[in-house]
Amino acid sequence: MSDPQISLISLLLIVLLGGGLTTYLVRAAKGDNDTPIITPENWPMTTGGAPIEPVIEARISELMAAMTVEEMVGQTIQADINAVTPEDVRRYRLGSILNGGNSAPGEDARAPAERWLALADEFYTASMDAGHPAIPILWGTDAVHGHNNIVGATLFPLNIGLGATRNLELVQHIGAITAREMIVTGIDWTFAPTLAVVRNNCWGRTYESYSEDPAIVAQYAQAMVKGLQGELGTDSFLSNQQVLATAKHFIGDGGTQRGKDQGNNIDSEADLRDYHGAGYPAAIDAGVQTVMASFSAWHGQRMHGCKPLLTDVLKERMGFNGFVVGDWNGHAQVPGCSTKSCPAAFNAGIDMFMAPDDWRQLYKNTVAQVMSGTIPRSRLEDAVRRILRVKLRLGLFEKPKPSERPLAGNYALLGHPNHQTVAQQAVRESLVLLKNNGNLLPLQTDQTILVTGSGADNISQQTGVWTLSRQGTGNTNENFPNGTSIWQGLRSAIEFGGGTAILSMDGSYKRIPDAAIVIFGETPYAEFKGDVDNLNFASNEELLLLQSFQSAGIPTVAIFLSGRPLWVTPEINAATAFVAAWLPGTAGAGIADVLMRKPNGAINFDFKGKLSFSWPRTATQTANENNDEPLFSFGYGLTYTDDGNLPQFPEISGLDGSEESTGNAFFALGKPMAPWSLQATVGETSRTVMDARVQLQNALTIRAIDRAAQEDAQQFIWSGEKRGAIAITGPATAYTAASHYDAMNLVIQYREEA
Ligand code: BGC
Repeated sequence: MSDPQISLISLLLIVLLGGGLTTYLVRAAKGDNDTPIITPENWPMTTGGAPIEPVIEARISELMAAMTVEEMVGQTIQADINAVTPEDVRRYRLGSILNGGNSAPGEDARAPAERWLALADEFYTASMDAGHPAIPILWGTDAVHGHNNIVGATLFPLNIGLGATRNLELVQHIGAITAREMIVTGIDWTFAPTLAVVRNNCWGRTYESYSEDPAIVAQYAQAMVKGLQGELGTDSFLSNQQVLATAKHFIGDGGTQRGKDQGNNIDSEADLRDYHGAGYPAAIDAGVQTVMASFSAWHGQRMHGCKPLLTDVLKERMGFNGFVVGDWNGHAQVPGCSTKSCPAAFNAGIDMFMAPDDWRQLYKNTVAQVMSGTIPRSRLEDAVRRILRVKLRLGLFEKPKPSERPLAGNYALLGHPNHQTVAQQAVRESLVLLKNNGNLLPLQTDQTILVTGSGADNISQQTGVWTLSRQGTGNTNENFPNGTSIWQGLRSAIEFGGGTAILSMDGSYKRIPDAAIVIFGETPYAEFKGDVDNLNFASNEELLLLQSFQSAGIPTVAIFLSGRPLWVTPEINAATAFVAAWLPGTAGAGIADVLMRKPNGAINFDFKGKLSFSWPRTATQTANENNDEPLFSFGYGLTYTDDGNLPQFPEISGLDGSEESTGNAFFALGKPMAPWSLQATVGETSRTVMDARVQLQNALTIRAIDRAAQEDAQQFIWSGEKRGAIAITGPATAYTAASHYDAMNLVIQYREEA
C-alpha cells in the first residue's frame, strides 16, 4: 500500500475477523408495501407559529415573478463548504450552504473564528452579486451544544445532560448564548434542537436526546427554540441577536428497531405521534422556522420520501409554514433516488435538499424534472416561497454582509466569561448523584485527594461528539482555550481550601490519599459510529482502579462521562459515591463546585440533576419501553439531604458472550474498533489517525469520506512524493485475544477516483 503507483486511489477499507460484511452494512429498511396509513386528522394542530404576513408574502411574489426556474431550483439546494465555492454560488444562485461536521474554512477544523467570518462574507457577497433579484444566502451549521465548530466557543453539556437539569430557563439562556456566538462568526442557522425521544439507548445518538419522556422533550423544544430564535410575538423574535433553529429529525429517529441509526421505526401511528412527535407541535408553536427530515424510515418508508408525514401532517395538519430541509444526502435513500436526483423527496415535501457534494448534478436534474413536469411547478414554487419567507422573516434582505452585522467579529464573545458561567451552572445542574455511601460527598477540601482516570484532564472526553469535528476526536486540551478540565477545577477548589490535589494518571500513590476521584467513561463518537448492540460499558481499566482503591480502604468517587446510561453496576459497586456526569462540555469546573465543600466546610452547591433516562439493571435492558425494573428509575437523583447509602447490586450483565459479533472486527464503519487504532507512517513520522483529515508531509492524506453513510469509510491519498504506509495496530493483549479465530478475512473495497 505504500507504493506510489497507487496514488490517487481511494480505498474503502473494511477489515473483518471471521465475520461477514453484514456487520457494517447499513441495514436496508424493508416492508415498503406494508406501511400503515397515516390519518392526518389524528394528529395535533398547532398555532402555526409565526403568522403569515401579507407584506412578506407580497414581497415573495414579487421576487418569484422575476426568478427563472433555474434560480428557483438554486434556492432549494444546500451545498457543503468543502464542495462549493463563492463562485459556484454566484453562478448557480444556491439558497444555502452548510459546514457538515468536518467542513471548515480551508478544511482546517481548527481555523480561527476570523476565517469563518471572512468566508461568510465571501459567500454572502457572491449571493448578492446578481442581475436578477439578489437573494442572500443562508449558512447552516450544527451548533448543537454551543457553537461547537469554533475554537474557543462556549460548549455546554450535550442534550442528555441538559435533560437532567429540568431547568427550562437555563436551556433558553443556553440557546440565546449559542445564537450570539454564532453571529460573531457570521452564521445564521443552526441544525438544532434534536427532538428525538429515544426508546433504545443502543442508538449512537442517544446523547442528542433530552429525555426518554416525550413531555420533557416538548418542554425543552420550546425553551431551546425560544433561546435560539427569540420569543415569538416579541421584538426579540428573529432579531439581530438571534438565529434560525431546526427541529430535527422529523420523525421517529429515536425509535428505530434495536436503536440502529438511520434504521426503521415500526411503532404505531399513535406512538409515532405521542412519543416521537411530541416535540414538534411545541417547537412549531414557539415559531421554529425549519424542520429537518429524518434519515430513518417508518415501516420501511424512508422519511425523506414520506408525503403523508412531511406534507399532510407537518405542513398541512400542524400548519408548519417554514421550510423542511433534508438531512445529509438523506434523499438518496428514497427508493429510485440517488444523491444526484430525487424528485420523489421534493414531491414528498422536502423544500431544501442537503446535497453536500453532488449538489451540481442534483441542481441540473431538478431543473430538468421541473421542466418535464416530474416535479410540479406549484411544488417548486411552494418550496421557494417557504425558503424566502424564512429569509425575509430573519431580515436577511435588510442585513449588511455578515461581518457588518451587530455582534459580528466580536471575538471576545466566544467563550466569554459570562457565557462560561452559564455553562458551569449547566454542568452543576446536570450532574446526577446515583450513590453516596456514608455520605462521602461533598468532600472536605483540606485533605489529600488523588484524581485519576482517562477523563480527568481530558477536555475532549468531556466535550464528546460534535466538537470541532463531527466525531469530536483528536482534540487536546490546547484546542479549548476557554475550557477547564475536570481536574483543573478540582485542583483549584482543593488548593483554595488548603488541601493537596494529586493528578495520578495510573492511579498510583506514594502516601495513601484521603479520597480518590476516578473520572472515566465513553470516548467521543457520533451517529452510527456510536451504535452498540448492548449497554455494557466495555472498558475494564477504571473498574480495576476503583476496585484497588476499594480494597485499600480509600473512599472513592466515580465520575462517569457518557452519552447514555450504560451498564456499570460493577463500577457502581466498587465506588463509594457515583455521579453520572454525561458529556459536560468545556466548563469542567462545574464538577468541583458540587463535589467539594467550601473551605469553611459548608456545602457549596448541592446536586440538582434528575435522570431523564432510566438507568439499566442489565446490559441487555436497552429499551426504555417496558423498562419496568431499571436499576435507577427515570427521575432518580440524590441530593445531600438524602440518605445516599446503596446496597451492593447483583452484577448480572445479561450477556452470554455470543453478542460480541461486532467485536470481531478490526475496522468497520470507517473507524478502527477498540482496542485497535489506525496508524499512518511516512518516513520517520507516524501518527494515530483521530481527526477526520490527517496529512503527513505532503505525501499521504487520510480523510473520512462517505460510502453508504456519512464518514463510514476512509480515503488514503498518496501524492506519489514518498512512500507511506497505513496499518491497523493494537496492544499485544488484543492480538492474543484475536488469535483464537481460525481464519481472518481481509476485505478491502476500493473505488478509483476520477
Ligand atoms: C445529521 C444531522 C446534521 C447533518 C449536517 C447529518 O449526518 O444527521 O443531524 O444536522 O448531518 O451536519
